[in-house]
Order: sequence, then structure tokens, then C-alpha cells
Amino acid sequence: MKTVVLTMLAGAALLVAAGVVGDPGPTPSAPLGLPPVPIPQDNPQTPAKIALGEKLYNEKRFSTDGEVGCFTCHDPKKAFTDSPLRVSEGIEKKTGTRNSPTVVNSAYLTTQFWDGRSPDLEDQALHPFVNPVEHGLASHDPILAIVRTDPDYVAAFEEVFGKAGDDVTMREVTLAIAAFERTVVAGNSPFDRWFYGGEADALTEQQKRGYDLFVHEGRCVSCHVIEQTQALFTDNRFHNIGVGINAIQDEVPELAAEFLEADLELSEVDVEVLTDPRTSEIGRFAITHKFDDLGSFKTPTLRNVALTAPYMHDGSIATLEDVVIHYLNGGVTEAGDPVNDFLSGGIRPLNIEVEDVPDLVAFMEALTSPEIEAQLEQTEGE
Ligand code: HEC
Ligand code: HEC
Repeated sequence: MKTVVLTMLAGAALLVAAGVVGDPGPTPSAPLGLPPVPIPQDNPQTPAKIALGEKLYNEKRFSTDGEVGCFTCHDPKKAFTDSPLRVSEGIEKKTGTRNSPTVVNSAYLTTQFWDGRSPDLEDQALHPFVNPVEHGLASHDPILAIVRTDPDYVAAFEEVFGKAGDDVTMREVTLAIAAFERTVVAGNSPFDRWFYGGEADALTEQQKRGYDLFVHEGRCVSCHVIEQTQALFTDNRFHNIGVGINAIQDEVPELAAEFLEADLELSEVDVEVLTDPRTSEIGRFAITHKFDDLGSFKTPTLRNVALTAPYMHDGSIATLEDVVIHYLNGGVTEAGDPVNDFLSGGIRPLNIEVEDVPDLVAFMEALTSPEIEAQLEQTEGE
């Protein structure tokens, strides 16, 4: 884990050297294939803040059993996920309802979580601590008790924020975690070197055929976006592509009605969707209360996707082959299963032969960033 962080800190230090400090806003440099990392005006990057954020990210004491930290489910050695788990395991191995998305490049997302219920990284970081199946704390108080008294934290918060004692709040804790996450960015994949770097042989012939399918017959690019100068492989929007909700279709009207009646606050929604597998399936509807959003989830990035099986918000699809078959079938994993009523208009059976599925998979394998893969190989060698 140490090495990732060192490389990333070195990257961050460069950003700082490039004049970001005191001049917040988009950073001047970014890996090949990615735009500059957006840095909020009120949370400029500094090396000390990033180091503090990393320490908080790896802290186990902020959980009821002293075992769980952010890294548990977003492990640098697993491309910042908990692959191969289908759904995440928190304190005492309690399971949630959703598959852990990667933290890599989450700095670019315009909303956080599969249903976008959080607006930014600072807000997002508040929730896992008090979720009963994640860090499990009843409130944020135990965290504050530690960061206000532990000598290392006292010194770090003093240095970074000029604050001590009761002036240190969850605001400072989450500012630091978010600053660390904004250094966890990775591009420069074979695809980037081919498409943006002009290296004609960075992709194999099969991967190039896969790219063609991705852009044309597959229409994948309409949601997993590739632009002229950068590719996030997400449109930051929400779609029902026929995962999870297909199986509980008949219950959906009742589930939606129950949910609206309960009239939950956002913090309660967080607990509800991660502890009740049926409610989890309503997706974006939990936030917007629009029927069109039933079963809709945020388009995930496809960068490093070959390293993070299984797939989808519920981890229900085991392999990239099976994901492509799901799209070929027009939004059902098993051919012949019923399509759900709320399926996105963009999901229809595709004019792609089963023999061509490996090409699309090979293309997605070209989206792996070398520094993320290097971390993985280290684990395998241990
Ligand atoms: C027990 C496992 C677990 C722990 C611990 C955990 N997370 Fe997560 N994280 C998840 C899951 C599962 C989701 C998706 C939940 C959802 O969308 O409803 C998620 C979502 C996220 C996202 C949103 C990414 C995206 O693509 O939308 C970020 C960022 C994130 N977590 C960061 C953190 C940070 C920071 C911490 C520590 C404060 C943390 N996580 C602790 C499992 C975990
Ligand atoms: C209408 C928008 C849309 C189109 C078109 C689309 N996707 Fe997706 N994709 C999504 C959404 C939304 C999800 C997450 C759905 C969920 O979890 O319920 C997703 C999930 C995925 C995943 C799983 C990623 C992960 O980390 O779990 C892969 C792989 C994927 N898509 C590849 C493709 C390919 C290949 C194509 C073209 C054949 C394609 N997508 C077309 C919106 C789309």
C-alpha cells in the first residue's frame, strides 16, 4: 500500500509545485486521457493535507470493531475496490447491498454513490462512518475524540488547518480525506496512449476492433463517454440497464409506494439502501422520487474495470463477457428473461455477433492504468 501512496504523493507534490496552492481551481497537469482534477475553491491541495487525509483513510480506530477503514473496501491493492467481493463487508463482516465502486478517478464524478445521493467527496466521506454495515459508529463523536487528543492527529490538524481542540470538526476530517482522494487519479492506459498519445501499436488488432464496436454497433460510448481530449467513460448520469430490478419487477410499485410513505431523511436513505436489498434496487428513485428513475444507477467509469470483477451496483454479473452478453440481450443477463418496465431507452438488443464479444472485452482490458496494475501485481507476488 505504501508504494501507491508514495507515487501518488509525488504526483500531488508536483501539482503543488506547479502553483496550485493559493491558486485553487483546475490543476494544470493531468495523466494522459484525463482532464485536470477539479479542486474546490474551499479545499486547496497541500502536501500536509493530503498526507493527513491518507492517514485518516487508513485509520481502523474509526470503527466499532477497530478493524474497518476506508481502505477495507477501497483497497489500493485491489484497484481501490474490494474485488472479488460481490457486495462489501464492513464491521464484523456484516454485508451491505452494493458492490464497492473504485475510488480511482472518483475526483471527477459530479455526484457520489451508485444513486448519486452525495454531491461531492467531502460530503460522501461522512456517511460510511455511521453506516451500520460499514464503520458502524452511532455518531461521529468517537472520531472527534481521537483526532482531538491523539498527539499525531493534534499536530497534523494544527499544521494543516491551524485548529485544535473543539475547533477540529468533521468538516476538517472530510476536507483532508477528499484532498487525499483527489490524488488517486489514473489514466495513461494503452487506450490513452493509442487514442490521445498517437501510439499506433499501443492496442492490439483485437482491441481496435473492440473499440470500433464500443463506439458504433455497441453504442456503449453514448453513456461511457470518450471525448476529443479526455475520456472519463461515464456521462455522470443515471440509467436503468436491467440489473437487479428485473428480478423484483412485480414488487416495484409497492416498494416505491412504501418508500415514499416512509418519507426518509437523506441520512436514513443511506442506511436504508445499504441494508435492505429490495429497497436498494429502486436506485436513483430514492433521491429524485421520479418514476423514470426506478432501477437507475450511475454510469460507472470503465477505467481499470478489468481489475474489479464482479460488476454492477449489486455485483451480480461475474465477468466482462457476461456484461457484454447482458447488453447483447437488450438488458437481460439470461436470454429470454423479462425486460423491466423502466428500462432506459438506450438499451435494446444489439447487432453484435456472440463471436465478437471477446473483442469488446479486449478493448475494456486496454483501459487499465499501469500504476494501478503495478499495485495489484505486488499483492500477487507477496
Ligand atoms: C464496508 C465497505 C466500505 C467502507 C468501509 C467504505 N466504503 Fe466507500 N463505498 C462502499 C460501497 C458499497 C459504496 C457504494 C454504495 C452506494 O452507492 O450506495 C461506496 C461508495 C464510495 C464512494 C463513491 C464512489 C462512486 O463511484 O460513486 C466513495 C468516493 C467512497 N465510497 C469513499 C469511501 C471513504 C472515503 C471511506 C471511509 C471514510 C469509505 N468509502 C468507506 C463501501 C465502503
Ligand atoms: C444507456 C447507458 C449505457 C449504455 C448504452 C451502456 N452502458 Fe454500461 N453501464 C451503464 C450503467 C448505468 C451501468 C451500471 C448499471 C447498474 O449497476 O445497475 C453500466 C455498467 C457497465 C459495466 C460494469 C462496470 C462496473 O464497474 O461494475 C460495464 C463493464 C459496462 N457497463 C460496459 C458497457 C459496454 C461494453 C457497453 C456497450 C455494449 C455499455 N456498457 C453500454 C450505462 C450504459
